[in-house]
Formats: sequence, C-alpha cells, structure tokens
Amino acid sequence: MTTSDTTASPIQTQVLDGLALANEVRGHLAESVAKITQAGHRPPCLAVVLVGDDPASRSYIKGKQRACSRVGMESVEHMLPEATSQDEVLALIDRLNADDGIDGILVQLPLPKQISPAVVAEAVDPAKDADALHPTTSGRLMAGTAELVSCTPLGIMAVLDHYEVPLEGAHAVVIGRSNIVGKPISLLLQQRNATVTMCHSRTRDLAAVCREADILVAAVGQPRMVQADWIKPGAAVMDVGVSEVDGKLVGDVDFDAAMGRAGIITPSRRGIGPMTITMLLRNTLLAYRNRKNV
Ligand code: GUN
Repeated sequence: MTTSDTTASPIQTQVLDGLALANEVRGHLAESVAKITQAGHRPPCLAVVLVGDDPASRSYIKGKQRACSRVGMESVEHMLPEATSQDEVLALIDRLNADDGIDGILVQLPLPKQISPAVVAEAVDPAKDADALHPTTSGRLMAGTAELVSCTPLGIMAVLDHYEVPLEGAHAVVIGRSNIVGKPISLLLQQRNATVTMCHSRTRDLAAVCREADILVAAVGQPRMVQADWIKPGAAVMDVGVSEVDGKLVGDVDFDAAMGRAGIITPSRRGIGPMTITMLLRNTLLAYRNRKNV
C-alpha cells in the first residue's frame, strides 16, 4: 500500500485484559514482599477506612484487602458508621499516622456529607499517603518529584506502556479534572512529553477536541458519553468511568460502538480497575520501603 492509498484497512481494536496485566505486576510485587519477609522484616500493611456502608465502596475495599493478602501484604480495615463525625475520622487517622505498624492509609471515597474529603486528605501523613491525595503529595507530582502517585493514573500509564503507546509528542485529551484522576493523569502524560488538553463540563465542542486525541482518557462518570465518532481512528482509549445502567456496568465510552474505531480500549470490567488496586499495593510497598529503609 502506498501512502496515497486511501483504502483504510479495518481497525482490530485491542481490548485490555486489566486483570491479566494486574496479575503480572502483582507477581513482581509479591516477589519484592517475599524478599522483605525472608530477610526477617514484617510485611507492609495497608489501613483502609470506610465510613458508612455504601455497597460499592464495601466491595472495592474487599477487593483491595484480597489483593493485599495475595501479594503477602497485611491490611487492616476500620468500618465506621455513616453518622461518624469528621473529628472522629481525624482522630482515627491520627492513630494510624502514629502507628509504626501501618505503612499506607486509604480513606475510601465518597465520604458522608458531614466529612470533608479535603480535610481528610490533608490529615493523612504524606509518608503513608497510599492514595496520593495529600496536597504535599500532589504538589510533588506537580514539581516532578513525586514517588507516591494516585493509583488510577499510575494504572493508566502502566497500560499505555504495556501496549508501547508512543507518548512523546502525542496529543492526549483528558476528560475530567478530578484531583484523583484528571489532574494527576494530565501531569503524568505531560511529564512523558505528551501534549495534553484537559477537558471538562464547560469545554466547547468536546467531540471535536476528542477527535484530535491520540490518547483519550475519559474520567467523568457519564455513562457512554464518548461516542464512536469522537474517537480518532486507532486512538488509545482509556476509560476510567464505571457506572451502573440497567444492572450492567458501563464506562464513559460507548464500548460497543468504539470497537473497530479505537486502536486500544479498556473495558469497564477487568479494565483499569484491577490496575488501580495494583498501584495501591505498589504505593503501600513504596511507602513502607521509604519509611523503613528496607
Ligand atoms: N473510591 C473509588 N475509587 C477510589 C480510590 O481510588 N481511592 C479512594 N480513596 N476512594 C475511591
């Protein structure tokens, strides 16, 4: 085929198996933990805090604890009632900060309305900030000196690297500007020399901006918002959204419509989710190593 040939061959969209990739990375983490314990040290320990009994949050927390135990890490859970005051949560975080046996702390979001997520994020010792939401941690990301980084963005970068998606000079479009995904993934992509456009609810002609993207990250929680014709043919589409529609998990991207259009896509099940949990383990191990000099 010559460069002037206009017959486009159909695109075979590659669908990420996030669980398989996560298991591969977790295998390496398990080896690191085994070396630590074989040397006579205790394993790293993650503390997870859940306020209220949101079933989705409960299930996420179970997944996180299961993942910890599979790589040989410890985890402790603190389940607090929905009516818990902010001061009570802060007192628990103070205890976890002071406990030398705890290496990573994660307070599950969303929190009940009487508790400010910003105040909670700032209460966590940055040395134990497995969720990377403390302003010191995010400030370091901005400065390019961060070690602990938000888990979902780290998972997305690992997926892009797994597929050897070229980042340098690529146009990355990020839909969503949350502290937990949109802002940090934009910084990580920019640090790898992508040209990043951050979009949000007030962006004009979002579809046209998305169509320019070599890499499209959707992190807004709007079911099937991204249509097939928003996707540049062959683009890497990283779908972070997980919503339930008619009892089915759906992403921010119309997955079925994107098949044959995207080059790579992440599904809502076994997509970015297992990678997010894996990066939580990575952060906990790193926090442990840094604190303990192991
Ligand atoms: N709720 C959904 N995802 C997350 C996450 O990555 N961290 C926290 N703390 N809460 C969440």
